[in-house]
Amino acid sequence: MDETMRAAAMLREARHVVVFTGAGMSAESGVPTFRDDLTGLWSRYDAQRLATPEAFRDDPDLVWGWYRWRAARVRAARPNPGHVAVAALETRVPTLTLITQNVDDLHERAGSSCPIHLHGSLFAPRCAGCARPFPAELATADVEPAEGRRIAPPRCAICADAIRPGVVWFGELLPEDALAAAYDAATACDLALTIGTSGVVYPAAEIPRIAARSGAPVIQINPERSALDASCDLNLRGGAATLLPALLRTAWHTP
Ligand code: OAD
Repeated sequence: MDETMRAAAMLREARHVVVFTGAGMSAESGVPTFRDDLTGLWSRYDAQRLATPEAFRDDPDLVWGWYRWRAARVRAARPNPGHVAVAALETRVPTLTLITQNVDDLHERAGSSCPIHLHGSLFAPRCAGCARPFPAELATADVEPAEGRRIAPPRCAICADAIRPGVVWFGELLPEDALAAAYDAATACDLALTIGTSGVVYPAAEIPRIAARSGAPVIQINPERSALDASCDLNLRGGAATLLPALLRTAWHTP
């Protein structure tokens, strides 16, 4: 039996599937990954100057402008057939928990019901001081974002502090509820799929490893080797936008 057939058989029999996604999930939608050579964001930009609380304190306009540019790129992108397949999988298996490290909204736009966003969202700005949510439409009402354009963040109407992107930065804790729900699902599932992640950023990278330690088989979809290879029972080498629809077609004999 080839690997896709084996993975399809495992999917068909599963009762609770955890789907864990990273930047590679959205790569074929045109959203850059972080660590791919040449195109990855952390190959082109200095994370310390853009993705830490200190960076925002030192140069809020640089950081806010950069996240506004990233959000605009995501707004212009569309879910790819891989996102659509993940949403369809939710209707095929008894229980599915979707856990994503991505700060885009492409899973939701493909129809997935309630992804757990471990690293926050590009579309949930909040006050850096009092943490009150800030209306996303007001956060994008002023200057047109562009690569390299600095934009002053808006100010909180209550405490006048700067509005910050609603993403998790290096050195910050993950949202407690999201992490707890993700750990619970990884412990309880009977099959995990890890898709498009290098598996090097913790604690998120624990998710497939917890599933494996709890006895669930883990299937990986990634065109390259990753730090998760050794924790996976099946490594399907290829892009998410091709392999995921093929996996569903094989599992449920759909056209
Ligand atoms: P990375 O950029 O580290 O890894 C992306 C992975 O996707 C790599 O293993 C690629 O081989 C794979 N990949 C590329 N194209 C693909 C495709 N078409 N289909 C499937 N896989 C593909 O991204 P993440 O693992 O998501 O953190 O990075 C984890 C975290 O590091 C991010 O959430 C972000 C970053 O700093 C925060 O924003 C807090």
